[in-house]
Amino acid sequence: MIQVRNLVKTFGTFTAVNDVSFDVAEGEIFAFLGPNGAGKTTTIKMLTTLLRPTSGAIELDGLDPQTKQNEARKRFGIVFQDPSLDGELSAAENMEIHGVLYHVPRKLRRQRSEELLKLFELWDRRAEQVKKFSGGMKRRLEIARGFLHTPKILFLDEPTLGLDPQSRNQLWTHVKKVNEAERVTVFLTTHYMDEADRVAHRIGVIDHGKLVAQGTPKAIKEQTGKESLEEAFLALTGSTIRDESAGSADQMRQFARMWSGGRR
Ligand SMILES: Nc1ncnc2c1ncn2[C@@H]1O[C@H](COP(=O)(O)OP(=O)(O)OP(=O)(O)O)[C@@H](O)[C@H]1O
Ligand SMILES: [Mg+2]
Repeated sequence: MIQVRNLVKTFGTFTAVNDVSFDVAEGEIFAFLGPNGAGKTTTIKMLTTLLRPTSGAIELDGLDPQTKQNEARKRFGIVFQDPSLDGELSAAENMEIHGVLYHVPRKLRRQRSEELLKLFELWDRRAEQVKKFSGGMKRRLEIARGFLHTPKILFLDEPTLGLDPQSRNQLWTHVKKVNEAERVTVFLTTHYMDEADRVAHRIGVIDHGKLVAQGTPKAIKEQTGKESLEEAFLALTGSTIRDESAGSADQMRQFARMWSGGRR
């Protein structure tokens, strides 16, 4: 479903993604695991036509997203690190707008919206303004919305950043349900190793723009002779993944936005 060969992205003299190659099969959940600045978002942006690769080849469902941009875009959904819901609108209205943007026929739009809002446990709150939702509810709604146009691939960039363990769990349970029911391929990025370990069928470990390992969580642990993915990662990259306590730039931005939003 996704084929990446020798993908490179440079910004000036800096190489953010350095000769990365991997495949993701149809119906697979693939996790891109790496620390801040490893090149995860840059890779997702190239896969989703938002950034032009410096070199290398990408195929999505047999299409080159560079030359077949519109056709490729219909085949995937994206949920970004930065929230993109309209807080003034209700959950149902946010779904509706997305369906219109993606030309989902009205009847199907309504049906699918109901189905997904129920699945993500937001149906009872559908008429409420999204700005009154908790962080976890907003994330759930964004992901439900990402599935609305029945994409073949859903890209999730750090979908669980800033959520408590219970909300993270819940979110993955929902994503897995749709993955199993509809065989949607899921490409996600995360810092959380336990998440990658539990949710992903296969993992790519990226560090300083280089893919340093890929395989099933089990294979990566075996390859490094380690019991946990945490230790495997340390063995592969020579560093621990987490500098979250220092606050990633994204978290700081999110906080700043919440703060200014609250005072308006
Ligand atoms: N438009 C840009 N111009 C210059 N440098 C960039 C640009 N976008 C990203 N970079 C750099 O490329 C590197 C990879 O960034 P990227 O956002 O892909 O990391 P990431 O793995 O998603 O990190 P995080 O976990 O913090 O989200 C970083 O060093 C970043 O500063
Ligand atoms: Mg990122």
